[in-house]
Amino acid sequence: MLTTIPLVIIGATDLAAAFLFMYGLKRMSSPMTAPSGIFAAGIGMLVAVVASFLYVFTIGEATRPYLLTNIGLAVVALVIGGGIAWWSGKRVAMTAMPQMVALYNGMGGGAAGAIAAVELFGGKAQGITSLTVTLIGALIGAVSMSGSLIAWAKLDGVIDQPWRFKAQQLVNALALLVTILVGGYITLATQGTITPIVSLPMLIAAFFVCALIFGILMTVPIGGADMPVVISVFNAFTGLAVALEGFVLQKPALMIAGMVVGAAGMLLTLLMAKAMNRSVSNILFSNFGATVHQKQGDIQGSLRPVDAGDAGIAMRYAASVIIVPGYGLAVAQGQQKLYEFVKLLQGVGVKVRFAVHPVAGRMPGQMDVLLAEAGVPYDLILQLEDINDDFASTDIVLVIGANDVVNPAARSDRTSPIFGMPILNADKAKQVYVVKRGEGKGYAGIVNTLFYAENCNMVYGDAQAVLIKMIEAVRPLGQAAA
Ligand code: TAP
Repeated sequence: MLTTIPLVIIGATDLAAAFLFMYGLKRMSSPMTAPSGIFAAGIGMLVAVVASFLYVFTIGEATRPYLLTNIGLAVVALVIGGGIAWWSGKRVAMTAMPQMVALYNGMGGGAAGAIAAVELFGGKAQGITSLTVTLIGALIGAVSMSGSLIAWAKLDGVIDQPWRFKAQQLVNALALLVTILVGGYITLATQGTITPIVSLPMLIAAFFVCALIFGILMTVPIGGADMPVVISVFNAFTGLAVALEGFVLQKPALMIAGMVVGAAGMLLTLLMAKAMNRSVSNILFSNFGATVHQKQGDIQGSLRPVDAGDAGIAMRYAASVIIVPGYGLAVAQGQQKLYEFVKLLQGVGVKVRFAVHPVAGRMPGQMDVLLAEAGVPYDLILQLEDINDDFASTDIVLVIGANDVVNPAARSDRTSPIFGMPILNADKAKQVYVVKRGEGKGYAGIVNTLFYAENCNMVYGDAQAVLIKMIEAVRPLGQAAA
C-alpha cells in the first residue's frame, strides 16, 4: 500500500505530463499560440520532474542508506542545470538560438547516454532485449551528444571549415562498424556466451569512446549551411535515445517525451529538406556548404546602388510592397524599425505584406518569431506558397537581409548548389530594393543573379541603419495623398 499510492500518483502525473507535452507541441505549430505551447510543455516537464521524487517511497532496503545523498545530488543537479538554462535562455541573442538548441540537444543526448552508462556499468541491463535496447540508446545518445557539440562549434564559428579527407565515408562507416561490433561483444560477454579478453567496464568504456568518435566524424565534413538540418537530425536521435532508455527503465514519461521529441525532430528534418529541395541523405553525406567557385564572368549586368532615403520614398509612393526578410534582419535586430517603416507606408495607403521563406534565417520559423516580436500582425505575414504568385503584380519588393531565398539561380542554373530549391519570386516584381551591408554572400556561398537584374537596386548598409534612414526620409512627407 505504501508503495502503491506513490506509483499510482507517478503514473497519473506521467499521463498528465505526456498530455501537456503533446498539447504544447500542437500549440507550437503557430506563432500566435507558440508561447502558450512552450509554457504548457514546460509545466509538463515540471510535473514529471517533481513527481519523480515520489520514487523515494518505492526504493528497497539496499538503497535506503543512500537516500539523502541521492536526493541532495538530484536537487543540486536540478538547481545547477535549471539555473544555467534560465540564465542562458534569458540572455541568448535571437541569432545565436541555433547554437543554443545544438548545445541543449547535445546535453539531452548526453543524458540519455548517461542513463545507459549507469545501466551498463551497474550491470542492471541483463537479458538480450534489455541489453540491446540499452546499447542502441547509448550509441544514439553518445552520437547525438558529440555530433551536436560539433554542430554548436560550427555554428558559433569555433570551427569555421568543414574537415574533409579522402575515403571519409569509408572511415566513418568503419567507425560505426567497430562501435556496433564492440556493442555485440558486450552483449555476448554479459550473457556469458564468451569470456571477454578485457574487463567488461573497459569494453563498455571503449563502446562509448567509439560512439562519441563516430558522432564527431559524422558531423565534421558537413558544411555550415546544413547545420540547422543536422541539429534537427540529432534532435530526432536524442528523442529516440531518450525513448529507448525510458523503455529500459520502464518510465512512460521518458518514453513519451522521447517519442514526441524524436518524431518532431524527424518531421522538422523532412520539412527543412523539402523546403531546400534536397534529400536528408544528400544533406548528411554530400559536401554542400563547401566553397563554391563561381566565375564573375557568369553574371550578366551590374550592381546599382541607391540611397536609402530614395528607396524609402519610392515605396511611399507605391501602391503595393512585399517585404522579404532574411537572416541579415535578425543580425541587425532591425525588426522594430522595419515595422515602424511599414506603419508609415500603411498610413498613406500602401498595401504592405511580408513574404516568409520556410528556410529564411538560420532556423525554422525564425522570421515569423522575429516579426511577431516587433508586433507585426499575423495576417500580414504570408508563407511562400500563399504569396509567390502575387510578386508579378507588385510594385516594389524590399529584400532585407535575405539572399539565397530570392536567388533566381535556384530556378534556372543546374550547376547551382541551391538548384531546385523553391524561392520567393522577388525578381518578378516591377522594382526590387535589396538591403545588405556589401558584397557578402548568403549561407550557400553563391552570387545572387537577382542583384544584377535590370529591375533591382542595392541599398548598402546595416539593415537597422538603412531603415532609420528610410523612416527619416518618409516621415516628413506626412499623410499627404499619394
Ligand atoms: P542568407 O542567404 O544567409 O543571406 C543573408 C544576407 O544578409 C547576406 O547576404 C548578408 O549580406 C546580409 N546581412 C548580414 N548581416 C546583415 C546586416 N546586419 N544588415 C543587412 N544585411 C545583412 O539568408 P536567407 O536569405 O535568410 O537564407 C537562409 C539560408 O540559410 C539559406 O541558404 C538556407 O538554405 C540556409 N538554411 C536555413 C535553414 C533554416 S531552417 N532557416 C536551415 C538550413 C539552412 P552582407 O554580408 O553583404 O550584408
